[in-house]
Amino acid sequence: MCGIIAAASTRNVGKLLVQGLHRMEYRGYDSAGIALHQLDGVAHLRTLGKVQLLEDRMIEEKPRSKLGIAHTRWATHGEPSETNAHPHKSNDEVFIVHNGIIENHLELKAELEKEGYSFASQTDSEIIAHLLDFNLKQGMTMIEAMFASKKKLDGAYAIAAMHRDDESKLVIARQKSPLLIGLGTDEVFAASDPLAISQLTNDFIFLEDGDVAEISADTYKIFDAVDLEASREVSRIDISSQATSKGEYRHFMEKEIYEQPDALLNTIDGRISGEDVLDNIFGLGSTELFKKVERIQIVACGTSLHAGRVAANWLSAIAELPCQIDYASEYRYRNPHVDDNSILITISQSGETADTLAALNYAKEKNYLATVGICNVPTSTLARESDFVLFTNAGPEIGVASTKAFTTQLAALMLLTLSLAKARNLNPKLRQRVVTALRALPEIITQTLELKDSIIEMAPAIANKDNALFLGRGIFYPVAKEGALKLKEISYIHAEAYPAGELKHGPLALIDENMPVIALAPESEIAEKLVSNLEEVKARGGTLYVFSDPSVSIDVKSGSLVPMPKCDFLLTPIIYTIPLQILSYEVALLRGTDIDQPRNLAKSVTVE
Ligand code: G6P
Repeated sequence: MCGIIAAASTRNVGKLLVQGLHRMEYRGYDSAGIALHQLDGVAHLRTLGKVQLLEDRMIEEKPRSKLGIAHTRWATHGEPSETNAHPHKSNDEVFIVHNGIIENHLELKAELEKEGYSFASQTDSEIIAHLLDFNLKQGMTMIEAMFASKKKLDGAYAIAAMHRDDESKLVIARQKSPLLIGLGTDEVFAASDPLAISQLTNDFIFLEDGDVAEISADTYKIFDAVDLEASREVSRIDISSQATSKGEYRHFMEKEIYEQPDALLNTIDGRISGEDVLDNIFGLGSTELFKKVERIQIVACGTSLHAGRVAANWLSAIAELPCQIDYASEYRYRNPHVDDNSILITISQSGETADTLAALNYAKEKNYLATVGICNVPTSTLARESDFVLFTNAGPEIGVASTKAFTTQLAALMLLTLSLAKARNLNPKLRQRVVTALRALPEIITQTLELKDSIIEMAPAIANKDNALFLGRGIFYPVAKEGALKLKEISYIHAEAYPAGELKHGPLALIDENMPVIALAPESEIAEKLVSNLEEVKARGGTLYVFSDPSVSIDVKSGSLVPMPKCDFLLTPIIYTIPLQILSYEVALLRGTDIDQPRNLAKSVTVE
């Protein structure tokens, strides 16, 4: 999704800004642009498509400047085009970049049109440039103009702005959209994503909602929601550049799939000891809190929601707690009833998903005992705004399609389940069994990754189809959903998931030789029932691709059967996810899609 980087320096910043845009490419975008302050005005370059095209323009035009703002755009209002790309400007004087959505933009646009402003783009963002310009024309300074503008803007924004007549200062503002300041030597940066400036500094200041700041090469000043000068903590964080390069892999997604044994190890490291989970792993006081819990509500989006759906089964079976789960985008709109002694759990890789954050904020007004987050990014808004949090420690995930984030979320959710069960004095033997199984998990994941060659053999038969059906039962239904999501995201093949028992209630009508059916058949009490469901598919000419426990006997005829390594049943969802990730990756490779940045998608969805 959109990315902002801005710099005030004593050296030329054009190249730094474009490099920062490259580091944010993983977020997903459709166009890019830059505005650089120059002696004779502002160099304003925008391109549709990849950041590389913008870089090519920069190489041709060689703008030199010590002050600039740059942006990658993911279209919300107005199609992807050069005119809709940021920076937007007013009167060739004010230049802005914006992330988020200005909800009252139509109303503000009408007001500004009455004042004689005309609009070049279809975006909501352009009004910010004109609004600043309008306020400047009333005699305000840039920072005063930003104070006045923020009072008019409804919605979410991270903004960086500059003025043609000021060669040394940028003004930035944040409201419900991430924005931070980075402190370098003789230079100060602003960015919406710490990765954008991770090569330039380790010193970050995370702005709060309502903050406005003025930055120049040698100093910065922050003002809070009521425009008073404020001091904010400087956090020293080393975001390793190694973690953000592909190394020997062809894609980040591939790298992230094969990183899973280490990622899982990092998730459980320091959180289990002997035969049990440690106390207070969600923060001091979490064990006390967990003793009181009687009901759970989970909210999340996309892959994170699938992790929550698996965990709902664990919470019920091991922690003996009823658990409801909702799409974050739906939760607030169904007028949810909150029972006493409930907690809200949010799950998010990025910790910046707008719907999940909105659900978290909404929940704060309800009578939850506390909010508990499971998140991969320690610097995220979700991490800061949750009462308790457990980091998945998976390392940066760059591929838009989530892989290691999902399996580490599952491990973290198992730790949550164990923590709740322990606090409630429940199922000590079962806890012990699961802790032992968690320790063995990284090794079993390594064995599962070794199935790659048999999965590569399956890929061509699926790559030449337009549809695919994924089947699983019980705790494997959400895993099937995650498999279908991976395939559709990166290969653009239409894929659906069904609990296998539902086949006969509709989807069986779709089965023919053009419908590959991918099924998960672990050893379980309903394995035989699943086998019967698969027979129904075979009888109608469907081709089966089955990942199964060797003890489950299935004849797949012309399809494929991949025997899976043994693993404790409760943790098998983690193991069975892995071949589905590899399969989607290999199918997408054959179809030649843009695997790390699939069309129309974004890594971090910062709009509701
Ligand atoms: C986007 C990403 C998905 C992700 C979802 C939720 O749609 O492309 O991979 O699962 O957002 O993101 P979160 O960061 O909240 O887990």
